[in-house]
Amino acid sequence: MKIPDAEIVEILRVGQEGDGIAALADGTPLFVPFGLPGERAMVKPSVKRGDGFAAHIDHIERSSLERVPAACQHFGICGGCSLQQWQMESYAAWKTGLLDMALRRAGFMPKLDPIVITPPGTRRRMDLAIRRTQAGIVLGLHTARDKNVIDLAECPVLHPELMALVPKLRDVLRRLQALGHEGSAIVNLLDSGPDILLRTDKKLAVSDRTILAAFAEANRVPRVSWAQNTAQPETAALLRPPITSLAGTPVAVPPGGFMQATADGEAAIVAAVMAGLPPKPVAKARVLELFAGSGTLTFAIVKHMRVHAVEGDAAAHASLKAAANTTGQTGRITTEQRDLARQPLSAKEVSAFDTVLLDPPHGGASTQIAQIAASTIKRVIYVSCNPTALGRDALMLKQAGFKLVSAVPVDQFLWSARLESVSVFVK
Ligand SMILES: C[S@@+](CC[C@H](N)C(=O)[O-])C[C@H]1O[C@@H](n2cnc3c(N)ncnc32)[C@H](O)[C@@H]1O
Repeated sequence: MKIPDAEIVEILRVGQEGDGIAALADGTPLFVPFGLPGERAMVKPSVKRGDGFAAHIDHIERSSLERVPAACQHFGICGGCSLQQWQMESYAAWKTGLLDMALRRAGFMPKLDPIVITPPGTRRRMDLAIRRTQAGIVLGLHTARDKNVIDLAECPVLHPELMALVPKLRDVLRRLQALGHEGSAIVNLLDSGPDILLRTDKKLAVSDRTILAAFAEANRVPRVSWAQNTAQPETAALLRPPITSLAGTPVAVPPGGFMQATADGEAAIVAAVMAGLPPKPVAKARVLELFAGSGTLTFAIVKHMRVHAVEGDAAAHASLKAAANTTGQTGRITTEQRDLARQPLSAKEVSAFDTVLLDPPHGGASTQIAQIAASTIKRVIYVSCNPTALGRDALMLKQAGFKLVSAVPVDQFLWSARLESVSVFVK
C-alpha cells in the first residue's frame, strides 16, 4: 500500500499505546507519537501500522495548552517514556481511562478508585542494553524507533542509587574481557543493595571476576551474576546475601528476578489485594495464588489466610519456597512449580480454594482464566500489568457470572503507556 504524503492533521485523542491518534480525510488512522489531543501538526506517515500508518511530527502548527517541557534530555528518542510532554492531570485521567475502557469492553460498569501514581526517581529495576563501540561503552535503553541503544546520561524515573551506578558500570564494563560487542545488565535495587545480572557475549575471564568483586565492594553491590548470552546465570561476585523484604519476610530474589517496579507501586498493589480478600475467612480458608513470583503478594496475604502459591519460573519458585521455609511459614504457605500456560490448574483443582489471586505476565492468563471461569470459586483478585489482556480475561469472568466489586489503577510505569491494576470480582 502506498505511504501517504505529509499532511497537516488534528490529533483527536491519545490511543492505548500512548500515541496521538489522527485520521486522514478518508478516515485512515495515523498513529503519531508525542501528539496531544487538539494539536494541529504537519505529520509524515512512514510505515503501515494496523489499519493505518505510523507517522512522525514534522512540526506542530498549533500546540496543546496541556503540553509541558519533558523531564529528560533523552525524551523523544529513548524507548522508555512516551508521555512526558503531557501535563500530569490529563495524563492521569488518560491512564485511568485505559483501565475503565478495558473493564467496560468486558461488560462491566466500573467505579474505579483514584489512580495511584508513583513519583519520579523511584523505579527500582533497570534493564539496560550494552554495546562496545570504538568510542567506548554505550549503556542505556533501546531507542523508540529501532534497535539502537541510547547512552543514558540521565533518567528521571530511575531511583537515584541506580542512576548513580550507570557511569560506574560503564567504566567496569569497558575493562571486562567477557564483553566483546554487546550484552545486557539487569539491576534490581534490593534492601541489601543493587543486585546485578550481566549477560555478555564472551567467556568470563579470571581477571573479570576480580574486577567485578572490587566494583561490588565499592558500590554496595551484594552480588554480581553473569551469564554468557542466554545461559543460566552463575555467581561472579558475592559480598552479601542479595535480600529484600517482601511484606516483612526476607527473600533472596534470584538474579534478574521479577520485582514490582517501584516500592510505592508494590505497597499500593498489596493494599488493594488485601482489601479484596474475604473480610472474615473461615478457619481453614485458602487462597490459590497464581503467578506468585518470589512472593511479593504471598507473604502479605498469608498474614490473613493460608496460601497455595504457584509459579512457573524455577528460580523464583525456589526463592519463595526457601523464604517460607527459613521463616517457619510452611504451615500456612504451600508452593508448586508449574507452567500455568501449558498446564493450568483445572476447574476442579481451582474449586478446592476460597479465593483465587492471579498476577500473570503481560500476555494475561487466557488458558488459566478459562478454568477459573468454569470452577465454583466465588472470588477472583486479578493483578494486571496490561489492561488489554485484563479486558480479554475479564470478559470470561463476566460470562461466568462474576460481578466487579473494585478496581484500582496503579501507575508504576510513569510516563509510559503501561498500567498496573488490581480488580476484584465476586460471584
Ligand atoms: C507479573 S509477575 C508477578 C509476580 C509476583 N506476583 C509479584 O508480585 O512479584 C508474573 C509472574 O508469572 C510468572 N510466569 C510467567 N509465565 C508463567 C507461566 N506460564 N506459568 C507460571 N508462571 C509464569 C513469572 O515468572 C512471574 O514470576
